[in-house]
Amino acid sequence: MTAGVERSGALYARARRVLPGGNTRTTVYERPFPRYAARGVGPWLTDVDGHRLLDCLNNYTALIHGHAYPPVLAAASQQLAFGTCFGLPTETEIQLAELLQSRVPAFEAIRFTNSGTEAVMQAVKAARAYTGRPLIAKCEGAYHGSYDYVEVSLDSPPDRWGEADRPARLPYAVGTPPSVVEDVLVLPFNAVAEARRLLVAAGPSLAAVLVDGMPNRAGLAPASAAYLGMLREVTRQVGAVLILDEVITFRLGPAGLRGLTGLEPDLTTLGKIIGGGFPIGAVAGARDVMAVFDPSAGRPRLPHGGTFNANPMSMVAGLAALSNLDPASFAALARMGDRVRHELDAALREAGVDGVVTGQGSLFKVHLGSGPVTDYRSAAAHPSDRVQRLHQRLLASGVLIGHDGLGCLSTVMTDQHLEQVVAAFRRSLNDPGVARA
Ligand SMILES: Cc1ncc(COP(=O)(O)O)c(C=O)c1O
Repeated sequence: MTAGVERSGALYARARRVLPGGNTRTTVYERPFPRYAARGVGPWLTDVDGHRLLDCLNNYTALIHGHAYPPVLAAASQQLAFGTCFGLPTETEIQLAELLQSRVPAFEAIRFTNSGTEAVMQAVKAARAYTGRPLIAKCEGAYHGSYDYVEVSLDSPPDRWGEADRPARLPYAVGTPPSVVEDVLVLPFNAVAEARRLLVAAGPSLAAVLVDGMPNRAGLAPASAAYLGMLREVTRQVGAVLILDEVITFRLGPAGLRGLTGLEPDLTTLGKIIGGGFPIGAVAGARDVMAVFDPSAGRPRLPHGGTFNANPMSMVAGLAALSNLDPASFAALARMGDRVRHELDAALREAGVDGVVTGQGSLFKVHLGSGPVTDYRSAAAHPSDRVQRLHQRLLASGVLIGHDGLGCLSTVMTDQHLEQVVAAFRRSLNDPGVARA
Protein backbone atom coordinates (compact mmCIF):
# COMPACT_ATOMS: atom_id res chain seq x y z
CA MET A 1 0.00 0.00 0.00
CA THR A 2 1.22 3.55 -0.80
CA ALA A 3 3.19 4.97 2.13
CA GLY A 4 1.49 7.76 4.06
CA VAL A 5 -2.06 7.04 2.89
CA GLU A 6 -2.67 3.74 4.68
CA ARG A 7 -5.92 4.82 6.28
CA SER A 8 -7.38 5.95 2.96
CA GLY A 9 -6.29 2.60 1.50
CA ALA A 10 -7.95 0.68 4.31
CA LEU A 11 -11.19 2.67 3.94
CA TYR A 12 -11.18 2.00 0.22
CA ALA A 13 -10.78 -1.74 0.85
CA ARG A 14 -13.85 -1.56 3.11
CA ALA A 15 -15.72 0.55 0.57
CA ARG A 16 -15.17 -2.08 -2.12
CA ARG A 17 -17.19 -4.51 -0.07
CA VAL A 18 -20.29 -2.30 0.01
CA LEU A 19 -20.09 0.14 -2.92
CA PRO A 20 -19.57 -0.73 -6.62
CA GLY A 21 -15.82 -0.38 -7.14
CA GLY A 22 -15.75 1.25 -3.72
CA ASN A 23 -17.36 4.34 -5.19
CA THR A 24 -20.63 6.26 -5.03
CA ARG A 25 -19.65 9.39 -7.03
CA THR A 26 -17.74 8.74 -10.26
CA THR A 27 -16.17 12.21 -10.16
CA VAL A 28 -14.12 11.46 -7.03
CA TYR A 29 -12.86 8.03 -8.10
CA GLU A 30 -9.11 7.71 -8.46
CA ARG A 31 -6.61 4.92 -9.03
CA PRO A 32 -5.48 3.11 -7.00
CA PHE A 33 -7.86 4.74 -4.50
CA PRO A 34 -8.88 8.25 -3.49
CA ARG A 35 -7.80 10.04 -0.35
CA TYR A 36 -10.63 10.11 2.18
CA ALA A 37 -11.48 13.44 3.79
CA ALA A 38 -11.71 13.66 7.57
CA ARG A 39 -12.59 17.34 8.09
CA GLY A 40 -12.31 20.82 6.65
CA VAL A 41 -11.91 24.26 8.19
CA GLY A 42 -11.56 27.45 6.15
CA PRO A 43 -9.38 26.79 3.09
CA TRP A 44 -7.92 23.62 4.65
CA LEU A 45 -8.96 20.03 4.34
CA THR A 46 -7.43 17.21 6.39
CA ASP A 47 -7.47 13.66 5.08
CA VAL A 48 -7.83 10.57 7.25
CA ASP A 49 -4.04 10.04 7.28
CA GLY A 50 -3.56 13.51 8.75
CA HIS A 51 -2.30 15.35 5.64
CA ARG A 52 -3.34 18.99 5.56
CA LEU A 53 -4.38 20.03 2.04
CA LEU A 54 -5.03 23.51 0.71
CA ASP A 55 -8.46 23.00 -0.84
CA CYS A 56 -8.47 24.49 -4.34
CA LEU A 57 -11.38 22.32 -5.39
CA ASN A 58 -14.05 23.31 -2.87
CA ASN A 59 -16.21 20.30 -3.63
CA TYR A 60 -16.09 20.96 -7.34
CA THR A 61 -16.98 24.65 -6.88
CA ALA A 62 -19.86 24.22 -4.40
CA LEU A 63 -18.14 25.92 -1.45
CA ILE A 64 -17.46 29.60 -1.99
CA HIS A 65 -16.44 30.32 1.63
CA GLY A 66 -14.35 27.19 2.21
CA HIS A 67 -15.22 24.76 5.00
CA ALA A 68 -17.11 25.23 8.27
CA TYR A 69 -17.79 28.88 7.45
CA PRO A 70 -18.98 30.37 10.76
CA PRO A 71 -22.22 32.05 9.44
CA VAL A 72 -23.25 28.78 7.73
CA LEU A 73 -22.34 26.81 10.86
CA ALA A 74 -24.48 29.10 13.03
CA ALA A 75 -27.49 29.07 10.68
CA ALA A 76 -27.38 25.31 10.12
CA SER A 77 -26.90 24.51 13.82
CA GLN A 78 -29.89 26.63 14.73
CA GLN A 79 -32.05 25.01 12.07
CA LEU A 80 -30.95 21.52 13.15
CA ALA A 81 -32.47 22.15 16.56
CA PHE A 82 -35.73 23.37 14.98
CA GLY A 83 -36.13 20.33 12.71
CA THR A 84 -34.56 19.48 9.38
CA CYS A 85 -37.53 18.87 7.07
CA PHE A 86 -41.30 18.97 7.18
CA GLY A 87 -44.29 17.93 5.13
CA LEU A 88 -45.14 21.64 5.02
CA PRO A 89 -43.41 24.59 3.35
CA THR A 90 -41.27 26.90 5.50
CA GLU A 91 -40.52 30.61 5.43
CA THR A 92 -36.89 29.81 4.59
CA GLU A 93 -37.75 28.95 0.97
CA ILE A 94 -39.36 32.37 0.52
CA GLN A 95 -36.33 34.07 2.05
CA LEU A 96 -33.82 32.37 -0.23
CA ALA A 97 -36.01 32.98 -3.28
CA GLU A 98 -36.33 36.66 -2.32
CA LEU A 99 -32.58 36.97 -1.93
CA LEU A 100 -31.95 35.40 -5.35
CA GLN A 101 -34.59 37.63 -6.93
CA SER A 102 -33.02 40.72 -5.35
CA ARG A 103 -29.77 39.74 -7.13
CA VAL A 104 -31.45 38.96 -10.45
CA PRO A 105 -34.86 40.61 -10.90
CA ALA A 106 -35.37 38.48 -14.05
CA PHE A 107 -35.74 35.52 -11.66
CA GLU A 108 -39.45 36.30 -11.59
CA ALA A 109 -40.27 32.86 -10.16
CA ILE A 110 -38.01 30.23 -8.59
CA ARG A 111 -38.35 26.52 -7.96
CA PHE A 112 -35.98 24.65 -5.65
CA THR A 113 -34.59 21.14 -6.18
CA ASN A 114 -31.93 19.07 -4.40
CA SER A 115 -29.18 19.14 -7.01
CA GLY A 116 -28.06 20.83 -10.18
CA THR A 117 -28.98 17.66 -12.06
CA GLU A 118 -32.58 17.97 -10.94
CA ALA A 119 -32.61 21.68 -11.70
CA VAL A 120 -31.51 21.05 -15.28
CA MET A 121 -33.96 18.15 -15.62
CA GLN A 122 -36.85 20.34 -14.45
CA ALA A 123 -35.77 23.23 -16.69
CA VAL A 124 -35.74 20.93 -19.73
CA LYS A 125 -39.13 19.49 -18.77
CA ALA A 126 -40.48 23.00 -18.18
CA ALA A 127 -39.36 24.09 -21.65
CA ARG A 128 -41.03 21.04 -23.16
CA ALA A 129 -44.22 21.61 -21.15
CA TYR A 130 -44.25 25.28 -22.16
CA THR A 131 -43.66 24.76 -25.88
CA GLY A 132 -45.22 21.31 -26.34
CA ARG A 133 -42.10 20.38 -28.38
CA PRO A 134 -39.70 17.46 -27.85
CA LEU A 135 -36.25 18.54 -29.09
CA ILE A 136 -33.54 20.15 -27.00
CA ALA A 137 -30.15 21.43 -28.13
CA LYS A 138 -26.95 21.35 -26.08
CA CYS A 139 -23.26 21.87 -26.77
CA GLU A 140 -20.86 19.03 -27.44
CA GLY A 141 -18.87 18.04 -24.34
CA ALA A 142 -20.84 20.20 -21.92
CA TYR A 143 -21.80 18.62 -18.59
CA HIS A 144 -25.19 19.48 -17.13
CA GLY A 145 -25.64 16.64 -14.61
CA SER A 146 -26.87 13.10 -15.05
CA TYR A 147 -30.24 13.42 -16.83
CA ASP A 148 -30.17 11.18 -19.93
CA TYR A 149 -31.01 13.91 -22.46
CA VAL A 150 -28.35 16.35 -21.30
CA GLU A 151 -25.67 13.66 -21.16
CA VAL A 152 -25.78 13.18 -24.93
CA SER A 153 -22.32 13.68 -26.52
CA LEU A 154 -20.75 14.48 -23.16
CA ASP A 155 -17.60 12.49 -23.84
CA SER A 156 -17.63 11.85 -27.59
CA PRO A 157 -14.39 10.13 -28.71
CA PRO A 158 -12.54 11.58 -31.72
CA ASP A 159 -13.17 8.53 -33.90
CA ARG A 160 -16.94 8.91 -33.51
CA TRP A 161 -17.56 12.58 -32.82
CA GLY A 162 -18.43 13.39 -36.43
CA GLU A 163 -17.97 16.57 -38.45
CA ALA A 164 -16.96 19.75 -36.67
CA ASP A 165 -19.96 21.63 -38.03
CA ARG A 166 -22.41 18.84 -37.17
CA PRO A 167 -21.27 16.91 -34.05
CA ALA A 168 -22.57 13.35 -33.69
CA ARG A 169 -25.35 12.64 -31.20
CA LEU A 170 -23.87 9.91 -28.98
CA PRO A 171 -25.45 8.31 -25.91
CA TYR A 172 -23.42 8.53 -22.71
CA ALA A 173 -24.59 5.61 -20.55
CA VAL A 174 -24.76 2.19 -22.17
CA GLY A 175 -28.42 1.34 -22.73
CA THR A 176 -29.65 4.89 -23.23
CA PRO A 177 -32.84 4.52 -25.30
CA PRO A 178 -32.36 5.59 -28.94
CA SER A 179 -35.38 7.88 -28.56
CA VAL A 180 -33.44 9.96 -26.03
CA VAL A 181 -30.64 10.59 -28.49
CA GLU A 182 -33.10 11.44 -31.27
CA ASP A 183 -34.53 14.25 -29.18
CA VAL A 184 -31.18 15.99 -28.66
CA LEU A 185 -29.44 18.21 -31.17
CA VAL A 186 -25.71 18.59 -30.48
CA LEU A 187 -24.22 21.99 -31.21
CA PRO A 188 -20.59 22.87 -31.87
CA PHE A 189 -19.54 25.25 -29.07
CA ASN A 190 -18.44 28.74 -30.09
CA ALA A 191 -19.14 28.08 -33.79
CA VAL A 192 -21.69 30.79 -34.50
CA ALA A 193 -22.67 30.16 -38.12
CA GLU A 194 -22.63 26.36 -37.85
CA ALA A 195 -24.75 26.25 -34.69
CA ARG A 196 -27.18 28.81 -36.10
CA ARG A 197 -27.69 26.70 -39.21
CA LEU A 198 -28.48 23.57 -37.14
CA LEU A 199 -30.87 25.46 -34.87
CA VAL A 200 -32.77 27.19 -37.65
CA ALA A 201 -33.24 23.86 -39.46
CA ALA A 202 -34.58 22.26 -36.26
CA GLY A 203 -36.68 25.32 -35.37
CA PRO A 204 -40.27 24.04 -35.41
CA SER A 205 -39.56 21.09 -33.08
CA LEU A 206 -37.11 22.87 -30.77
CA ALA A 207 -38.23 23.23 -27.14
CA ALA A 208 -35.01 24.57 -25.67
CA VAL A 209 -31.37 25.42 -26.08
CA LEU A 210 -29.35 24.58 -22.98
CA VAL A 211 -26.02 26.35 -22.64
CA ASP A 212 -23.32 26.83 -20.02
CA GLY A 213 -21.44 30.05 -20.70
CA MET A 214 -18.14 28.52 -19.54
CA PRO A 215 -18.51 24.73 -19.56
CA ASN A 216 -15.95 23.06 -17.30
CA ARG A 217 -15.85 19.62 -18.93
CA ALA A 218 -15.57 21.23 -22.36
CA GLY A 219 -12.43 23.08 -21.29
CA LEU A 220 -13.62 25.97 -19.06
CA ALA A 221 -13.34 28.35 -22.02
CA PRO A 222 -15.93 31.14 -22.27
CA ALA A 223 -18.64 31.24 -24.89
CA SER A 224 -18.06 34.23 -27.14
CA ALA A 225 -20.48 37.15 -26.94
CA ALA A 226 -21.37 36.46 -30.57
CA TYR A 227 -22.24 32.83 -29.78
CA LEU A 228 -24.46 33.69 -26.81
CA GLY A 229 -26.08 36.49 -28.79
CA MET A 230 -26.81 34.10 -31.65
CA LEU A 231 -28.44 31.60 -29.26
CA ARG A 232 -30.66 34.35 -27.83
CA GLU A 233 -31.64 35.60 -31.26
CA VAL A 234 -32.40 32.19 -32.78
CA THR A 235 -34.35 30.88 -29.78
CA ARG A 236 -36.56 33.99 -29.94
CA GLN A 237 -36.96 33.55 -33.69
CA VAL A 238 -38.06 29.90 -33.47
CA GLY A 239 -40.05 30.19 -30.22
CA ALA A 240 -37.73 28.00 -28.09
CA VAL A 241 -36.74 28.54 -24.47
CA LEU A 242 -33.15 29.60 -23.76
CA ILE A 243 -31.82 27.89 -20.62
CA LEU A 244 -28.57 29.19 -19.14
CA ASP A 245 -26.91 26.65 -16.84
CA GLU A 246 -25.28 28.67 -14.06
CA VAL A 247 -24.75 25.79 -11.63
CA ILE A 248 -21.06 26.67 -11.65
CA THR A 249 -20.94 30.14 -13.21
CA PHE A 250 -23.19 31.76 -10.61
CA ARG A 251 -19.97 32.06 -8.61
CA LEU A 252 -18.60 34.55 -11.17
CA GLY A 253 -20.50 37.57 -9.87
CA PRO A 254 -23.50 38.82 -7.88
CA ALA A 255 -25.73 38.04 -10.88
CA GLY A 256 -23.62 35.19 -12.23
CA LEU A 257 -22.41 34.98 -15.80
CA ARG A 258 -25.58 36.69 -17.04
CA GLY A 259 -24.61 39.75 -15.04
CA LEU A 260 -21.22 39.85 -16.75
CA THR A 261 -22.42 39.14 -20.28
CA GLY A 262 -25.83 40.82 -20.35
CA LEU A 263 -27.38 37.62 -21.72
CA GLU A 264 -31.10 37.39 -20.96
CA PRO A 265 -32.08 33.70 -20.86
CA ASP A 266 -35.67 32.63 -20.25
CA LEU A 267 -34.68 30.12 -17.58
CA THR A 268 -31.56 29.74 -15.45
CA THR A 269 -30.43 26.68 -13.54
CA LEU A 270 -28.57 27.12 -10.27
CA GLY A 271 -26.96 24.85 -7.67
CA LYS A 272 -23.69 24.46 -5.76
CA ILE A 273 -22.91 27.82 -4.04
CA ILE A 274 -26.56 28.76 -3.44
CA GLY A 275 -26.78 25.91 -0.88
CA GLY A 276 -23.85 27.01 1.27
CA GLY A 277 -22.40 23.49 1.18
CA PHE A 278 -25.72 21.63 1.45
CA PRO A 279 -27.49 19.83 -1.42
CA ILE A 280 -29.43 22.22 -3.64
CA GLY A 281 -30.54 23.21 -7.09
CA ALA A 282 -32.98 25.76 -8.51
CA VAL A 283 -34.73 26.74 -11.72
CA ALA A 284 -35.44 30.44 -12.03
CA GLY A 285 -36.81 32.66 -14.73
CA ALA A 286 -39.65 34.19 -16.65
CA ARG A 287 -43.01 34.01 -14.92
CA ASP A 288 -44.87 32.73 -17.99
CA VAL A 289 -42.52 29.76 -18.47
CA MET A 290 -42.29 29.02 -14.73
CA ALA A 291 -46.11 28.96 -14.65
CA VAL A 292 -45.91 25.34 -15.89
CA PHE A 293 -45.14 24.42 -12.24
CA ASP A 294 -48.04 26.45 -10.77
CA PRO A 295 -50.55 24.19 -9.01
CA SER A 296 -52.84 27.02 -7.85
CA ALA A 297 -55.25 26.83 -10.80
CA GLY A 298 -55.57 23.03 -10.93
CA ARG A 299 -53.20 20.36 -12.19
CA PRO A 300 -50.04 22.09 -13.43
CA ARG A 301 -48.64 21.30 -16.85
CA LEU A 302 -45.53 20.07 -15.06
CA PRO A 303 -46.20 18.63 -11.59
CA HIS A 304 -42.95 18.46 -9.62
CA GLY A 305 -42.60 16.82 -6.22
CA GLY A 306 -39.47 16.11 -4.19
CA THR A 307 -39.33 15.09 -0.52
CA PHE A 308 -36.37 17.35 0.18
CA ASN A 309 -37.16 20.25 -2.17
CA ALA A 310 -36.47 23.51 -0.33
CA ASN A 311 -35.53 21.62 2.84
CA PRO A 312 -34.79 24.26 5.47
CA MET A 313 -31.20 23.10 6.10
CA SER A 314 -30.20 23.91 2.51
CA MET A 315 -32.25 27.11 2.52
CA VAL A 316 -30.71 28.60 5.67
CA ALA A 317 -27.18 27.52 4.71
CA GLY A 318 -27.64 29.08 1.27
CA LEU A 319 -28.99 32.28 2.82
CA ALA A 320 -25.98 32.51 5.15
CA ALA A 321 -23.52 31.87 2.32
CA LEU A 322 -25.08 34.29 -0.16
CA SER A 323 -25.76 37.08 2.34
CA ASN A 324 -22.04 37.15 3.00
CA LEU A 325 -21.13 37.58 -0.66
CA ASP A 326 -21.16 41.18 -1.80
CA PRO A 327 -19.72 42.76 -4.95
CA ALA A 328 -16.43 43.30 -3.09
CA SER A 329 -16.19 39.54 -2.36
CA PHE A 330 -16.59 38.74 -6.07
CA ALA A 331 -14.05 41.43 -7.00
CA ALA A 332 -11.54 39.97 -4.52
CA LEU A 333 -12.11 36.45 -5.89
CA ALA A 334 -11.65 37.69 -9.46
CA ARG A 335 -8.42 39.48 -8.54
CA MET A 336 -7.06 36.32 -6.91
CA GLY A 337 -8.21 34.25 -9.89
CA ASP A 338 -6.47 36.61 -12.34
CA ARG A 339 -3.31 36.36 -10.28
CA VAL A 340 -3.30 32.57 -10.07
CA ARG A 341 -4.07 32.11 -13.79
CA HIS A 342 -1.35 34.57 -14.72
CA GLU A 343 1.27 33.00 -12.44
CA LEU A 344 0.51 29.42 -13.44
CA ASP A 345 0.76 30.46 -17.06
CA ALA A 346 4.09 32.21 -16.39
CA ALA A 347 5.38 29.09 -14.60
CA LEU A 348 4.57 26.98 -17.68
CA ARG A 349 6.41 29.42 -19.99
CA GLU A 350 9.45 29.65 -17.71
CA ALA A 351 9.69 25.86 -17.40
CA GLY A 352 9.23 25.48 -21.16
CA VAL A 353 6.25 23.19 -20.60
CA ASP A 354 3.46 23.37 -23.18
CA GLY A 355 0.12 24.13 -21.64
CA VAL A 356 -2.61 26.68 -21.17
CA VAL A 357 -4.67 27.91 -18.22
CA THR A 358 -8.33 28.74 -18.87
CA GLY A 359 -11.02 30.14 -16.58
CA GLN A 360 -12.41 33.34 -15.19
CA GLY A 361 -13.18 34.83 -11.76
CA SER A 362 -12.49 32.25 -9.05
CA LEU A 363 -12.14 29.37 -11.53
CA PHE A 364 -9.07 28.06 -13.32
CA LYS A 365 -8.24 24.98 -15.32
CA VAL A 366 -4.83 23.69 -16.36
CA HIS A 367 -4.47 21.96 -19.75
CA LEU A 368 -1.13 20.38 -20.59
CA GLY A 369 -0.33 19.99 -24.27
CA SER A 370 -0.18 22.28 -27.25
CA GLY A 371 -2.73 24.56 -28.82
CA PRO A 372 -5.38 26.92 -27.49
CA VAL A 373 -8.54 25.69 -25.74
CA THR A 374 -11.78 27.12 -27.08
CA ASP A 375 -14.17 24.17 -27.07
CA TYR A 376 -14.53 20.46 -26.29
CA ARG A 377 -12.44 19.25 -29.23
CA SER A 378 -9.52 21.60 -28.65
CA ALA A 379 -9.60 20.70 -24.92
CA ALA A 380 -9.64 16.98 -25.76
CA ALA A 381 -6.43 17.44 -27.76
CA HIS A 382 -4.61 17.90 -24.41
CA PRO A 383 -3.77 14.49 -22.93
CA SER A 384 -5.58 13.82 -19.66
CA ASP A 385 -2.82 11.60 -18.16
CA ARG A 386 -0.45 14.55 -17.75
CA VAL A 387 -3.06 16.56 -15.88
CA GLN A 388 -3.84 13.58 -13.67
CA ARG A 389 -0.17 13.35 -12.84
CA LEU A 390 -0.17 17.09 -12.05
CA HIS A 391 -3.08 16.53 -9.67
CA GLN A 392 -1.10 13.78 -7.90
CA ARG A 393 2.07 15.87 -7.67
CA LEU A 394 0.11 18.81 -6.22
CA LEU A 395 -1.58 16.49 -3.75
CA ALA A 396 1.83 15.27 -2.62
CA SER A 397 2.74 18.97 -2.09
CA GLY A 398 -0.42 19.59 -0.04
CA VAL A 399 -2.64 21.23 -2.70
CA LEU A 400 -5.94 19.76 -3.89
CA ILE A 401 -7.22 20.46 -7.41
CA GLY A 402 -9.45 18.22 -9.54
CA HIS A 403 -7.89 15.35 -11.46
CA ASP A 404 -9.19 17.11 -14.57
CA GLY A 405 -7.05 20.17 -13.74
CA LEU A 406 -9.93 22.22 -12.31
CA GLY A 407 -9.14 24.70 -9.57
CA CYS A 408 -11.50 26.93 -7.64
CA LEU A 409 -10.81 29.61 -5.03
CA SER A 410 -12.80 30.56 -1.96
CA THR A 411 -13.29 33.84 -0.08
CA VAL A 412 -11.24 32.57 2.88
CA MET A 413 -8.09 32.30 0.77
CA THR A 414 -5.36 34.91 0.82
CA ASP A 415 -2.39 35.80 -1.36
CA GLN A 416 -0.23 33.57 0.83
CA HIS A 417 -2.37 30.59 -0.10
CA LEU A 418 -2.00 31.46 -3.78
CA GLU A 419 1.76 31.62 -3.38
CA GLN A 420 1.66 28.10 -1.96
CA VAL A 421 -0.35 26.90 -4.99
CA VAL A 422 2.04 28.51 -7.47
CA ALA A 423 5.15 27.17 -5.67
CA ALA A 424 3.70 23.64 -5.63
CA PHE A 425 2.80 23.99 -9.31
CA ARG A 426 6.34 25.07 -10.20
CA ARG A 427 7.76 22.04 -8.38
CA SER A 428 5.33 19.69 -10.12
CA LEU A 429 6.60 20.86 -13.52
CA ASN A 430 9.91 19.11 -12.77
CA ASP A 431 8.09 15.78 -12.90
CA PRO A 432 8.65 14.16 -16.33
CA GLY A 433 5.10 12.75 -16.27
CA VAL A 434 3.76 16.31 -16.05
CA ALA A 435 6.28 18.11 -18.27
CA ARG A 436 6.53 15.50 -21.03
CA ALA A 437 6.37 17.11 -24.46
C1 LIG B 1 -22.81 23.12 -15.24
C2 LIG B 1 -23.37 22.05 -14.36
N1 LIG B 1 -24.68 21.76 -14.43
C3 LIG B 1 -25.23 20.83 -13.64
C4 LIG B 1 -24.47 20.11 -12.74
C5 LIG B 1 -25.10 19.05 -11.88
O1 LIG B 1 -25.15 19.50 -10.55
P1 LIG B 1 -25.21 18.44 -9.35
O2 LIG B 1 -23.86 17.78 -9.26
O3 LIG B 1 -25.54 19.27 -8.15
O4 LIG B 1 -26.30 17.47 -9.69
C6 LIG B 1 -23.10 20.37 -12.64
C7 LIG B 1 -22.26 19.62 -11.69
O5 LIG B 1 -21.05 19.70 -11.67
C8 LIG B 1 -22.53 21.35 -13.48
O6 LIG B 1 -21.22 21.62 -13.44
